[in-house]
Amino acid sequence: MKRIIIEGNKPLSGKIKIGGAKNSVVALIPAAIMAKGTVHITNVPNISDKDALIEILKLLNVKVETKKDIIDIDASCMTNTVIPETLSNKLRASYYFMGSLLARYKHVEMYFPGGCNIGSRPIDLHLKGFEALGATITKEDTKYIIDAKKLTGANIFLDFASVGATINIMIAATMAEGTTTISNAAREAEIVNIADLLNNMGAKISGAGTEEITIEGVKELHGAEIKVIPDRIEAGTYIIMGALLGDNLEIDGMIPEHNIVLLNKLQEMGVNFKLNNHKMILNKSKNLKPTNVRTVVYPGFPTDLGQPMSVLLTQANGISLFEETIWENRMGHVKYLNQMGANIEAERQHAKITGPTKLHGEVITATDLRAGAALVTAGLLAEGTTIINDAEHILRGYERIINKLSHVGANIKIEEI
Ligand code: UD1
Repeated sequence: MKRIIIEGNKPLSGKIKIGGAKNSVVALIPAAIMAKGTVHITNVPNISDKDALIEILKLLNVKVETKKDIIDIDASCMTNTVIPETLSNKLRASYYFMGSLLARYKHVEMYFPGGCNIGSRPIDLHLKGFEALGATITKEDTKYIIDAKKLTGANIFLDFASVGATINIMIAATMAEGTTTISNAAREAEIVNIADLLNNMGAKISGAGTEEITIEGVKELHGAEIKVIPDRIEAGTYIIMGALLGDNLEIDGMIPEHNIVLLNKLQEMGVNFKLNNHKMILNKSKNLKPTNVRTVVYPGFPTDLGQPMSVLLTQANGISLFEETIWENRMGHVKYLNQMGANIEAERQHAKITGPTKLHGEVITATDLRAGAALVTAGLLAEGTTIINDAEHILRGYERIINKLSHVGANIKIEEI
């Protein structure tokens, strides 16, 4: 087990450079195996979810070359092997191999994907989409066998604007015969990044980033290049840290439009920040106003920033209400924040946060990736020593977090126990 140790209450100053988006790269890598030729991906974040996907590529006999933040993927000698549970359950996004293997081989065998325990996380919408394209699905315990004689374009309406289902169906439909439309599609910036790669590979996709995506099937895909967009959740997390502890903290390399709702909330709370193109300067803000935060699908307030945001709300003057609408189980961090001195009453997906409260160091546990990010934020703010157990969760989505925070003045280290 890894644990993070923080001596808190130190100002943060200097520059944090934002890396590539986790939620993009975890789909770009599986999508790349559909190309006949090399796919060159740049600005790849150094996170453990990426390493887990590379393990799957190696199992499939795909040639992978990595250098700094670049990955070259060449699937010309690939073999369509069963993806075992030990690999599929390392991360949620392993399910994107369902879409790409189905498109390329019309046959997939893989076990149920893993990922954070933040809710029941069904994949019924992905599977319904594959069925609409002509696939049949057999489930043997936790293994899925997905087969198709051929894939044919279809009109697919998603009951919920699921990120994963939108991307997976878009991937599967790229080489289907005829035209597919996905209605009530998710609109996340990452979806546009994936569609850009697929189009660079020769796919014909339009409307990514809107509620209706159209995919005209093509016969084959070729090698291509793509740059991973900046991680808006990583940026948002460091922005929140800057609002709490910044001393001219600079967040560099973000796309402000991707974080517009967060920035509006910060403005409403009276956070001291300046924005200049892709850079943001933050200073610790006094007299923060309370606010209400409700996580919703993009472009609304992102569920992945709800937990870090709740730490900021503990420092506002008065009562803030926080509601999580996407996942049933995103309050895992609350008991630890209360242990550290916060005043949060949480019930199911609602929390009432009364501030401001002084936080002090405690021994706590990261229950999932974003809960872990919230606890790091709280630990940086708290007086004394905070020890965060199960810190592996955090490394799944925040590249070089110890290094980036140490560089701006945090007293933070990670150790294996
Ligand atoms: C992605 C992100 C995750 C983020 C989430 C919502 C990745 C790798 N992960 O997760 O960080 O928190 O979007 O912004 O991109 N649902 C169904 N059936 C399905 C699929 C989803 O009912 O087949 C439900 C889920 O239970 C959940 C909601 O839809 O309540 C949102 O899920 P979805 O958008 O699919 O999230 P992920 O793609 O898993």
